[in-house]
Amino acid sequence: MGEVRIRLDTPYPKQREFFEATSRFVAYGGARGGGKSWAARVKLILLALAHDGIQLLLIRRTLPQLRENHILILQKQLKDAAVYRESSKEFTFPNGSRLKLGYCDSEQDVLQYQGQAYDVIFMEEATQFTEFQFQALTECNRSSGMMRENFSPRMYLTCNPGGVGHSWVKRLFIDRNYKNSERAEDYTFIKSLVYDNAFLMEHSPEYVRVLENLPEARKKAMLYGEWELFEGQYFSEFSRDVHVIEPFVIPSDWRRYVSLDYGLDMLACYWIAMDTSGNAYVYRELYEPSLIISRAAKKILEMSGGEEIEQYFAPPDLWNRRQDTGKSAAEIFCENGVLLTKASNDRVAGWLNLKEWLKVYGENEEKTSRLKFFRNCLNIIRCLPAIRFDEKNPNDCAVTPHELTHSCDAMRYFASSRPIKSDIKAQNDDFADLIPWEEQENELIMYGV
Ligand SMILES: Nc1ncnc2c1ncn2[C@@H]1O[C@H](COP(=O)(O)OP(=O)(O)OP(=O)(O)O)[C@@H](O)[C@H]1O
Ligand SMILES: [Mg+2]
Repeated sequence: MGEVRIRLDTPYPKQREFFEATSRFVAYGGARGGGKSWAARVKLILLALAHDGIQLLLIRRTLPQLRENHILILQKQLKDAAVYRESSKEFTFPNGSRLKLGYCDSEQDVLQYQGQAYDVIFMEEATQFTEFQFQALTECNRSSGMMRENFSPRMYLTCNPGGVGHSWVKRLFIDRNYKNSERAEDYTFIKSLVYDNAFLMEHSPEYVRVLENLPEARKKAMLYGEWELFEGQYFSEFSRDVHVIEPFVIPSDWRRYVSLDYGLDMLACYWIAMDTSGNAYVYRELYEPSLIISRAAKKILEMSGGEEIEQYFAPPDLWNRRQDTGKSAAEIFCENGVLLTKASNDRVAGWLNLKEWLKVYGENEEKTSRLKFFRNCLNIIRCLPAIRFDEKNPNDCAVTPHELTHSCDAMRYFASSRPIKSDIKAQNDDFADLIPWEEQENELIMYGV
């Protein structure tokens, strides 16, 4: 076999980081123009040449995107190195490596890959795929058996915020909120912005200006790669940098409240401490389905660990009498040691109050808000920025997807109530006294965080 020479440009530092990442799932990008598609193509070529017999799949959502963005360019780049077959849309290399180019327009299109095995799968613009499609593709990402060497199967994703797959990409790579058998060490995210792409900065300053002139919400997503914002987002003020903080040990004399939304499908319950200036810190979360009321109450008391709770805010429907027993849920909570306080259920007023609590003030490094969440409160941090406007009443939040509503409702009951700030102690009570996170690590382990 003769020598194959391909001229490739040099990767920029972020692209190099992407090339060198070895975890099972590697995501790259997060904003427009960071050199994602370039990096995907070059990495594929390097893999095909370096590993004899490797089976590669590059997938985009639609055929025109695939053709424009990749097929035509790869045909040029690989003209001396591989043979392209249009009927099967694949490049075969003399060393037995194969690069298949695919697309899946509809949800079910992904099933055509069922039963096939690819050592490496690239999903370009992963946020345009549904979670179902991602999962179906992960099932095809296994050893093809066509390689002589040992090679652990991997998936690479490129992505921008927004799109039908925004939530699952954000959960896995940005929020890093894992469930079941998912393991944190399997997921790597490498953020790159247009500013990391020297080619565009030099040759297309007008493109950079277009991004810089986008409307604020879209600009944050597409230029700065912020994942909290997208069109239709209700709590557009939510910003991870401002609202999510490292836990600290709550001073023992701060007032503490609990706010909850109860249903058999989900108990969402939050512990909130008030400082002496009236700022609120959500420091603990209980988010669990299928708890009958007595077990829910027991769990809440257990997790309070003897802390003095001023009030437990809950929605008024818990005071409705049940037909079977004649008792209300609030009564059963009370019998089990949790005396609930009825919060208002005026949705719109409650949401607007919550927006006031979340309002960001101050400039640059000084940006802050009156309500903050310890980073261990995973579900509220996930749901609050994800909940959308109701299409019929733009002052209200949508009630679908239902899963997003539990934790937001619980926080709304808090915002609809009147928590009181903590009293100022005689001695100095400033933040320098607060004990940082490490020292209370045990507590978080206890709650399975
Ligand atoms: N290392 C590099 N050397 C030279 N040119 C590069 C390099 N990386 C990217 N480019 C060029 O920069 C331009 C934009 O890159 P690319 O299309 O990969 O960005 P992208 O992040 O996929 O953009 P989009 O968000 O629009 O999909 C392309 O013309 C590409 O060839
Ligand atoms: Mg691209």
